[in-house]
Amino acid sequence: MSVIGNARNAIRTVKMGNGGRFKEYLLPFCSEVVNCGLTMRLAIISDIHGNLPALEAVLKNIETSGADVIHCLGDTVGYGPYPDECVTLVRERCTVILKGNHDSGLLLETPLEDFNMYGMKAILWSRKEVAAGNQAFLRDLPFTAAQDECTFAHASPLQPDSWRYILTLRAAQESFSAFTTDVCFIGHTHVPVIIGEDGSINRMKSKGRYIINVGSVGQPRDHNPDAAYGLYDTESRMYQLVRVPYDIQKTMQAIREAGLPEFLAHRLSLGI
Ligand SMILES: [Fe+2]
Repeated sequence: MSVIGNARNAIRTVKMGNGGRFKEYLLPFCSEVVNCGLTMRLAIISDIHGNLPALEAVLKNIETSGADVIHCLGDTVGYGPYPDECVTLVRERCTVILKGNHDSGLLLETPLEDFNMYGMKAILWSRKEVAAGNQAFLRDLPFTAAQDECTFAHASPLQPDSWRYILTLRAAQESFSAFTTDVCFIGHTHVPVIIGEDGSINRMKSKGRYIINVGSVGQPRDHNPDAAYGLYDTESRMYQLVRVPYDIQKTMQAIREAGLPEFLAHRLSLGI
């Protein structure tokens, strides 16, 4: 809750007439300079894909963003060379954490044949890297969540465990019926976009319903190699896509040292 100040500020010491003191516990209050606690400022991250340098750069950026909470839409593992480290960090820092198709693949819940050759090789490698405790954590994750007046899904709120891609207006229109909030955040395609129920693209108004793809932290595919994440203010309904440069060469080097396919390194430098 975005009450300016913190819990410590909600306690004040009051002098009594007889020289004594007592602590008065204050309820969150409203004034012209204080946000009444109705606003949540959300940082939404997705598709980290084992890219620890990208995740660390994004988390550092979020620290300066004023975000109250961080929600993660899944695919924390897969493709990248630091899957276990990324799961550990997401567990530490995120509130809502969803299961993505690569997380599901690592657990063999989604058949490996459903992945392309690069994805399959990376999942088989990652299965040996992710600690048992972190695998158990991934197993228990939900496919969707509704919190802070928003819906969250990895791929689509419609049949979320079938990993539908929202790549067309028609696919988006079908998905609006699957959630009741004004806004649903998704990832999965690694391409940031805002789709309105009215058919608008990347034109968000203060009213209306939207599906917002926050892009990918660890493997952007919109020809911009910088890590991507979203910031959303639940009161003003302002959304901002944030891009964060990170040490791409470090991740590329680690992919090569892990023996993962060269294409997985090369694509990071191009944002494809
Ligand atoms: Fe992904």
